[in-house]
Amino acid sequence: MNVLVIGQGGREHAIAWKLAQSQKVEIVFVAPGNGGTEVEDKCENINIKISDFSAIQKLIREKNIKLVVIGPEDPLVNGLVDFLQNEDVLVFGPSANGAKLEGSKIYSKKFMFKNDIPTGEAKFFSCSAEAKDYLDNCEYPIVLKADGLAAGKGVLVAQDSDSAKNWVDAVMHDSVFGEAGKNILVEECLFGTELSFMGILTPKEFIPFETSVDYKPLEDNNFGPNTGGMGCISPSPFMNEDLKKAIMQNVVQPTIDGLNKLGVKYYGFMYFGLMVKDNDPKVLEFNCRLGDPETQCLMMQMESDLLSCLIDALNDEEVTIDWKKGASVGVVMASAGYPGTYKTGCTVKFGNTGNLKIFHAGTTLDGAELKTSGGRVFSINYYDDNLKDCSEYIYKNIEEIQFDGNIYRTDIGKIYES
Ligand code: AMP
Ligand code: GLY
Repeated sequence: MNVLVIGQGGREHAIAWKLAQSQKVEIVFVAPGNGGTEVEDKCENINIKISDFSAIQKLIREKNIKLVVIGPEDPLVNGLVDFLQNEDVLVFGPSANGAKLEGSKIYSKKFMFKNDIPTGEAKFFSCSAEAKDYLDNCEYPIVLKADGLAAGKGVLVAQDSDSAKNWVDAVMHDSVFGEAGKNILVEECLFGTELSFMGILTPKEFIPFETSVDYKPLEDNNFGPNTGGMGCISPSPFMNEDLKKAIMQNVVQPTIDGLNKLGVKYYGFMYFGLMVKDNDPKVLEFNCRLGDPETQCLMMQMESDLLSCLIDALNDEEVTIDWKKGASVGVVMASAGYPGTYKTGCTVKFGNTGNLKIFHAGTTLDGAELKTSGGRVFSINYYDDNLKDCSEYIYKNIEEIQFDGNIYRTDIGKIYES
């Protein structure tokens, strides 16, 4: 069968790579894809925008596509699944009313309050003067969030009222995030260890993936600004059976029940961003997609056929996912300047990269030359018996990947605090 993956990052490369391994898959089309998916076995890039729903519909018909997997949140929140509902194709991803759990942080916080899902306290503001009054009298640090999608940049953990009020001015007055910052949340700061808990969610059940830890800060030892993720390890050394039970009981089940109460038929990936202290999980955010760079590690760890898992979930059949017993590590190689401004168009040269699995994120093929085209350029992954061996193998070989101004952390898989 032919399948279509929507998106162009490292996450989508990893999903396409894994789907392509299925005996049942003929071609994995990736729209628009990147320089990595362009040369991946059984994969073919199609140069259309993820916001061009009509072009996606046309592609599905022309290429006889039988399953669509949507990687990023924007097309989900903007209703791609709803748009395709009358097509003769299975679509893996929630409809817009399900994706709203990620698309509006105020909606999602209200959903958590209503369904007794543990999370930080929060106040909502649509008037900047009222927000600033409140910020004059609260305890710090405090967390500020734009309500809408802001490309992963809409959150500030503010240490004092000056920086908090500056953020309010920039977001609500100067509209740095556009409409996404019209309304904001001011949220209690939670402390503990962050955990990415993701899997497949259906109206019936949640099938958890292996656990993983995302390293968000730019620099070694977790210094520097927050990024979309500079590396990942899987499984998470923090997970234990009691914690897993607590997450399933206190977070996952009330989420399933809450969606069912609303009549939302959710079929798709779900990523619970959690803060855990003393085995007590609290939700930082819901994401209606998989994480990046977590997916790259998870696809290396997954034993089962991803295609069968997705189709079984969509058909309300029992889904079982087997995981390899070892570990996997991914190190993100980025362009100098990321997460701020950075140069693109740099030529990439590969030496002998051995058995590394290199997932591309910000690359394009320019004739025979591979060029950088984004902030996060590669996720360099390896699977082995344990985290230490994975990490050592990656760092022994990483210099074989070169482009002007490349940066990466040197401690992924060596320290476990994200
Ligand atoms: P979010 O997009 O809501 O996950 O926020 C991005 C990052 O901000 C999270 O991964 C956390 O590192 C941090 N964060 C968000 N909410 C909180 C909170 N209530 N307390 C502490 N840190 C938070
Ligand atoms: N790695 C964090 C995210 O995908 O949101």
